[in-house]
Amino acid sequence: MGRPIYRIETPAGDPAWRVCGHSEVKALLGDQRLGKAHPDPPSAGWYSRDDLAGRPIGGSETEYAEHTAWRKAMNRVFSPQDLERCAPDVTRIAAETAGALAACATPVDLSDAFSTPFASRVICHLIGVPDEDIPLLREWTEEGGRLADMNRSLSGITRMMGYVNRMVRDRRGKPGSDTVSLLLATAAPDDRMHQGRVVKLVAGMLAFGRETPASSLNWAVMLLLANPEQLRLVRADPRLLRGAVEESLRLFKPPAATDEGLLRYAHTDIEIAGVTIEVGDMVLLDLVAANHDSAVFPDPERFDVRREPNQHVAFGHGFYMCNFTRLARVELTIALRELLDRFPGLRLAVAPEQLEFKHHLRTGGLAGLPVAW
Ligand code: HEM
Repeated sequence: MGRPIYRIETPAGDPAWRVCGHSEVKALLGDQRLGKAHPDPPSAGWYSRDDLAGRPIGGSETEYAEHTAWRKAMNRVFSPQDLERCAPDVTRIAAETAGALAACATPVDLSDAFSTPFASRVICHLIGVPDEDIPLLREWTEEGGRLADMNRSLSGITRMMGYVNRMVRDRRGKPGSDTVSLLLATAAPDDRMHQGRVVKLVAGMLAFGRETPASSLNWAVMLLLANPEQLRLVRADPRLLRGAVEESLRLFKPPAATDEGLLRYAHTDIEIAGVTIEVGDMVLLDLVAANHDSAVFPDPERFDVRREPNQHVAFGHGFYMCNFTRLARVELTIALRELLDRFPGLRLAVAPEQLEFKHHLRTGGLAGLPVAW
């Protein structure tokens, strides 16, 4: 492991601190002296000029107060127990999607034929969106997540927001027991700011809540199939499935605003690991580097389903940590179990070195996963 924190220049030509050490990343993610907002937005450095995500969001004084109220509302609708209760539906959707996969001729792209439809149906079921709209959601998410094409990115985001706006308007007029109605009911009916937040969250869930679990599932299957000795261990002892899920999350590249990690700005001077991050400085918290820190993860490149402890930060940490870790873990565990049980001969149809990545999308991940059985 090199230096835990050092200066870099961003693609926009602005200076930033890149933080790579596991303990420094974790400490800063838990530190409210930095946030997504900048104390003086006009003077903020940017990560990228042609990517909407590479700049500050909101005003720093109200950032944490506003987000605390919002997270409380989110947790009332998506408590870990609520998300755990989705397990029977997730199991049914995994079995149905695997049934359709079994009818495919091989080799087949597991991403298109299983991971993406599975993750899409789960999130649509959770939010109450019809399965027929999945192709549209996929098109808008891919447009919205495009790197280096701001117009297409804006068009995807606008179309997704328009769709969710209409859904929120409908549910406001005719509330039911669905997720959007429950989210709306956590504030007064005339609270416009709250409605805006619901739209943003639901759009985020429809985009990242499909793409990220699908990508991480592809990643987990690839790691297991490319490491037959680890696959054998999991097949011999299904309790190791939990370890396989955590280890593939550790080695996964989670979604982030920038290629070099989560984007934050210092709201005050911060001393850490022998350096002073000054107020207003841009800070990039590199989750991938932190998850490969050899001081915490011995032999970090190795995929080891028995790694214990495995304190990865794939979901982030602290205030902004992913609110859906329980759902993501339920999805990964159930889908992997279904695939391993139903396809005892599952194997990669190409050499691991031939697999390609989605370089043009912020969500990244494998461009496809050809398999046979
Ligand atoms: C393997 C799956 C997943 C991974 C690795 C992952 C990773 C992350 C990470 C790293 C963050 C923190 C971003 C930050 O600190 O700036 C985050 C936030 C978030 N994730 Fe996930 N996520 C996953 C699954 C999901 C799912 C299934 C959903 C929706 C159902 C979801 C929705 C969100 C939302 C809405 C946020 C923003 C939370 C906030 O700002 O308070 N994620 N996720």
